[in-house]
Amino acid sequence: MTSPTPLIAGNWKMNGTAASLSEAQAVAAALAGTSARVAICPPATLVERAAGAVKGTALLLGGQDCRAEVSGAFTGDVSAEMLADAGASLVILGHSERRAGYGETDALVAAKVEAALRAGLEPIICVGETLDERKAGKALEIVTGQVRGSLPATLAGKTFSVAYEPVWAIGTGLTPTTPEIEEVHIAIRATLVEVFGDHGKTPPILYGGSVKPSNADEILHAAEVGGALVGGASLKAEDFLGIIKAL
Ligand code: PGA
Repeated sequence: MTSPTPLIAGNWKMNGTAASLSEAQAVAAALAGTSARVAICPPATLVERAAGAVKGTALLLGGQDCRAEVSGAFTGDVSAEMLADAGASLVILGHSERRAGYGETDALVAAKVEAALRAGLEPIICVGETLDERKAGKALEIVTGQVRGSLPATLAGKTFSVAYEPVWAIGTGLTPTTPEIEEVHIAIRATLVEVFGDHGKTPPILYGGSVKPSNADEILHAAEVGGALVGGASLKAEDFLGIIKAL
């Protein structure tokens, strides 16, 4: 069995203008000689310029969402093909800010995953429970249900990752305990193997939600944690590199 190749991805969310490209360049420069797979997902407006700014380095670029269709009358949306054309090689899909803010269902997320594969992008598929769901003892049921519903069968054998992001830990400074993270990651792995057979053993399962340099070491070495999806702490190269070094 090949063990999952770790991935650390930074999600800049709706932050960043041309002035932020120097942060991406500082991350890219520090990656020389490391074997970690590291990505930054800037706003769509910056993907092409970021690709130019880090050209020739190991830093990967990703989008934060895409429309399922290739093109058409969808004002304001961006397709997977457009992200790939701009220089992205990955895309975050099903982030809780999209599921909650735009009513994205598992079925829609699965359609977007198909779009990403069609365009040659590697999807990072986000799942996670709310605080109410956790308090009701439903975290595992919710998360494994999202994995089953958001990952189309066509992912078998493709390169992708799942990001476990408890909604209550995103941007709050709160993080689950290590045993809580491990319990969910082990359940996600079991679901991936149930759905994809041996192919389900290789995708890394990232943890996301208030990851910072001070907690990265413990989180990244927890069972079945194969990397991190980092929001706030990915905006400054110094913080993001502190997380990458903990791998
Ligand atoms: P955070 O965000 O690291 O700022 O909590 C994580 C995410 O939403 O991907």
